[in-house]
Amino acid sequence: MKNAAKEILDKLTLEEKIGMIHGAELFRTAGVKRLGIPPLVMSDGPMGVRNEFEPDNWKALGHTDDYVTYLPCNSALAATWNRKLAYDTGSVLGEEARGRGKDVILAPGINIKRSPLCGRNFEYFSEDPTLTKELAVPYIQGVQQWDVAACVKHFAVNNQETERLWVEVEIDEEALREIYLPAFYDALVKAGSYTVMGAYNLLYGEHCCESDFLLRKILREEWQYDGVVISDWGAVHDTEKAANSQLDIEMSVTYDFNNYCMAEPLRKKIEAGEIDEEKVDEKVLRILRLMMRLHMLDGKRKGGAYNTPEHREKALNVARESVVLLKNEKQMLPLKREGLKKILLVGENADCIHSNGGGSAEIKALYEISPFMGLKTALGGNVTVDYVPGYCREEKTEDSDKNWQERSLENGGGSMEAADSLVEGAGQALEEKRKILREQAVKQASDKSYDKVIFIGGLNHDHDLEGNDRKDMSLPYEQDKIILDLFSAREDLIVVMIAGSPVDMTAWADMAHTLVWSYYAGMEGGRALAEVLLGDVNPSGKLPETFYKNHRDCSAHVLGEFPGGKKVAYREGRYVGYRYNEKFHVEPLFPFGYGLSYTEFSYRNLSVDDKECAVSCYVKNTGDVAGSETVEVYGLSHKDDMPVKELKGFEKVFLMPGEEKYVKVHVGHVEEGYTYVAGSSLYDIRLK
Ligand code: BGC
Repeated sequence: MKNAAKEILDKLTLEEKIGMIHGAELFRTAGVKRLGIPPLVMSDGPMGVRNEFEPDNWKALGHTDDYVTYLPCNSALAATWNRKLAYDTGSVLGEEARGRGKDVILAPGINIKRSPLCGRNFEYFSEDPTLTKELAVPYIQGVQQWDVAACVKHFAVNNQETERLWVEVEIDEEALREIYLPAFYDALVKAGSYTVMGAYNLLYGEHCCESDFLLRKILREEWQYDGVVISDWGAVHDTEKAANSQLDIEMSVTYDFNNYCMAEPLRKKIEAGEIDEEKVDEKVLRILRLMMRLHMLDGKRKGGAYNTPEHREKALNVARESVVLLKNEKQMLPLKREGLKKILLVGENADCIHSNGGGSAEIKALYEISPFMGLKTALGGNVTVDYVPGYCREEKTEDSDKNWQERSLENGGGSMEAADSLVEGAGQALEEKRKILREQAVKQASDKSYDKVIFIGGLNHDHDLEGNDRKDMSLPYEQDKIILDLFSAREDLIVVMIAGSPVDMTAWADMAHTLVWSYYAGMEGGRALAEVLLGDVNPSGKLPETFYKNHRDCSAHVLGEFPGGKKVAYREGRYVGYRYNEKFHVEPLFPFGYGLSYTEFSYRNLSVDDKECAVSCYVKNTGDVAGSETVEVYGLSHKDDMPVKELKGFEKVFLMPGEEKYVKVHVGHVEEGYTYVAGSSLYDIRLK
């Protein structure tokens, strides 16, 4: 492959080579027609293949052929703790990307969730490196089987949106390697992701896309990575640094393609003898090799497809396993169909579409089943399902006719204010409107002819949004008020939260005996939620992140900084997420790994096998409905400078009532000084 690529390289002029290493359109490089080298065509991810834009303008083309399968977001996928579903998700994305004629799909996002406030957390998997990498690997394998390149992003320590273009991360190297790099290592080396996207931010004084430390020392030398490094859109700032770095392709959000750092400015510098042409050759060789890996040059490429019934089925399966049952104290769930005549749904998220928001993760979904639609379709004509909004969001002013992505290089690339563009003077009017909606909803909920009242609220992509971090975890739109009012009217209220990251539920959490969590769960999300509420599906989701009572309990905020200023200090080091809570005895609202089922499980006979590097035990379904259990294995350390507990491995098993299975969990290597425990969450360890 190397020689074949070299042969092609030798035929290319400098101009042609330059054309291959920078964006010639917003989502493609230039090909070389005379030699039959096609352009490299890219698209966002990760929740589906994004719609088409004009080549040199962030105007959507408005075609009718770019509707796609809308997949559950990566946080939802992570809540399934299911490698097979990660593979299926990747496979759908890869096949659809190919079906839409793409070469590189800009997914998955695998940054660690350092704070619950990061606006892009919904695109990421977890606060834990093991869970992230264990799911990222099959995901990437699923994508790439379709002759499409995955592009894992954003390398590295891109854990906030505020000032994302210019913020410099200060972190000690040990924590960097222990928490923030392992998922990238596995994604690039074990799964062999063909491409990786460099992040916007700086690390150790260098922009990630020009970083000698990240790209040369770690990626190429230590990891021996020979894939293609693509810049985030607008993340390159200096021609010389970028050319001399291990970056291969510069992409951006602006339309002056010839003026990109690695375009005309680079050609001029090479011709002036200031930069060695060999630097460009290395990049082009890697790009040609990528094209060969994807069979772009030999006519043997797979074709792909999109919007197939199989894809929708897979999206539904992921959604089903992503729902997390947080509380079921009165066994009110599952709802019994028998005798059920009338249900009231309150809250905008019962009837809200999420696929078209969030930033670059937005897509044009073929359809999206809301919870309202999901329940109605599941319950049929004998049950009345009513809906009232109960609250409303702010109307947003559009202060520019530019697309947000066109403006995304302004103001440091992100802030904590982006989502707060309220209509001027709308404060009081809005409060008034919400009061009316609240009173209406509470009045209706008090009507005893409703057998059940379900509040379905949470967040939407005005809050879970690229270029924006939340200020705190509070529920927007005065939802706390309406939930409390509803509880006064109906003690038996069921609460469902739909969001991309945890919210502050402390105002009413004690009152809520029945609480269900769903991340943005894709086109079939509403159906999956209905199936869980009705008991057609037994919930098996577990939280892939800590649900803090308040963001101030999170180590990034207590010990470190978030979002910082020009610099952001990761003083919490390795104590990210539950690693901090466990060590310093901070009790969250719901811990990492937590999630209930409609059945019960028991564990016995834990044993550790040093040779096989595995921990095993027997797990039994002791209840009377079938269900899946994730066996989470944690390593306990007693060393002063180490986290008390760390996830070492996990395995999900399906068990019929009364069934028992032997479960073996691979833990990488059995470390000395560690004790191993298996169970279903940190606070619910079943076996030591
Ligand atoms: C985002 C990337 C995305 C790219 C292209 C950037 O603003 O950070 O994740 O892939 O835009 O849309």
